[in-house]
Amino acid sequence: MKPEEVARIKAGHVFESSRTAPPNAFPQLPDIPGGRYVDPKFWELEKKNLWKKSWVYAIHSDEVPEKGSFVKWERLGEPLFFFRGEDEKVRCFYNTCRHRGAPVVTEDKGQARGVSCKYHGWTYNWKGELINLRDKRDFVGLDMSCRSLIEVRCENIGNWYFVNLDANAEPLMDYLGPVGQGLLELKSETMRLVDKQAIEVKCNVKVLLDAFLETYHLKSIHQNTVDRFLDHRGTFITLWDKGHSRMVTPFKRDGWVDPGTKGLKEIEGIDPYYVSTNYSLNAYPNLVTPLAPAGVPFLLFWPGEIDTMTVEVHWFAPDWGPGPRPEVWDMRLTNFVKILDEDLQFADEIQKSVESSGFEGMPLSYQERRIYHWHEELDRRIGQENLPEDQRVKFMLKDYIENSLDVSDEAAKQPA
Ligand code: FES
Ligand SMILES: [Fe+2]
Repeated sequence: MKPEEVARIKAGHVFESSRTAPPNAFPQLPDIPGGRYVDPKFWELEKKNLWKKSWVYAIHSDEVPEKGSFVKWERLGEPLFFFRGEDEKVRCFYNTCRHRGAPVVTEDKGQARGVSCKYHGWTYNWKGELINLRDKRDFVGLDMSCRSLIEVRCENIGNWYFVNLDANAEPLMDYLGPVGQGLLELKSETMRLVDKQAIEVKCNVKVLLDAFLETYHLKSIHQNTVDRFLDHRGTFITLWDKGHSRMVTPFKRDGWVDPGTKGLKEIEGIDPYYVSTNYSLNAYPNLVTPLAPAGVPFLLFWPGEIDTMTVEVHWFAPDWGPGPRPEVWDMRLTNFVKILDEDLQFADEIQKSVESSGFEGMPLSYQERRIYHWHEELDRRIGQENLPEDQRVKFMLKDYIENSLDVSDEAAKQPA
């Protein structure tokens, strides 16, 4: 990150800590309508226009380590798998045979030169091309070249692979904008996958996502954990185009170092500023990355049905060399899940509330404005003309949106 950007954030912390009210002219935000969390019609629009049309993080390169490695992936509710080809490129396909739809990959992960459907044996190579089928003589006019596996958009930032179900989506880096530049600066090509966990939660995906877009809750639910070292009153927020945002929370004591990271290698060449605060990006819609000196966690929020979701935590860290990961990670991961449990503790109760007549909407404060920003973007995606008036959010934040991030010149270069 450029020194000017660091200076701007630091000044932001000072400003935020010392203010006695929101800055001049910051508007009163209308309540977020409760129906957005429970109305089945809204949910259908959200799935169609948001989840099936967004770039989302899916896998790390280590999950398909060699030519021929494949791994199933179904977080968006559609049957997909990633496959590393003979050319080393990672592709993503529908796990859907072009004959009658049986899966071409049945194990969760594995190694293969190509894939062969278990139903009638149609066989595809690593490019997804149909190369063989039994009793071809019986198919009249079948053009094999038109029956390749259907490929899904898949692009990467270093070792991090993203997918988008929308074939017409803009390129990943264009979509991510400043967040993409920020992720690029973390040099994921130097990092390995440390751990990956998933927790199912009984609430609408937005109920839990909301909790990771603000630090207002620190003093209540994280009193004995993160509130001990994070100063939420100094939180500095940046809203970016397309729903993305950043939240930087200073430590209570300058130079504080997480004791849980002792003995771990730091991310090579990372700007020290990133790790002298809690620096968290939100790549819209569902990736949150609260950076740590010895690694990067990706928190991912996946919709299930209207009232269920899964939160995933993936950790990445600098290569620790041969052998298993350093033992200190076990404690670190356990502690992180403890903090996550604090965030999860009210999720299903909140879901019951939003489904009840006792809930009408949510008034959000200045420091919760990332949640409002998130919802504004959802309305831009759905198109407000498709929503009943009482479920829309009024566009209030357009004057507060920026469009760039001042990263280092080196990081600003797009990946080849
Ligand atoms: S469904 Fe795959 S070969 Fe028939
Ligand atoms: Fe939290």
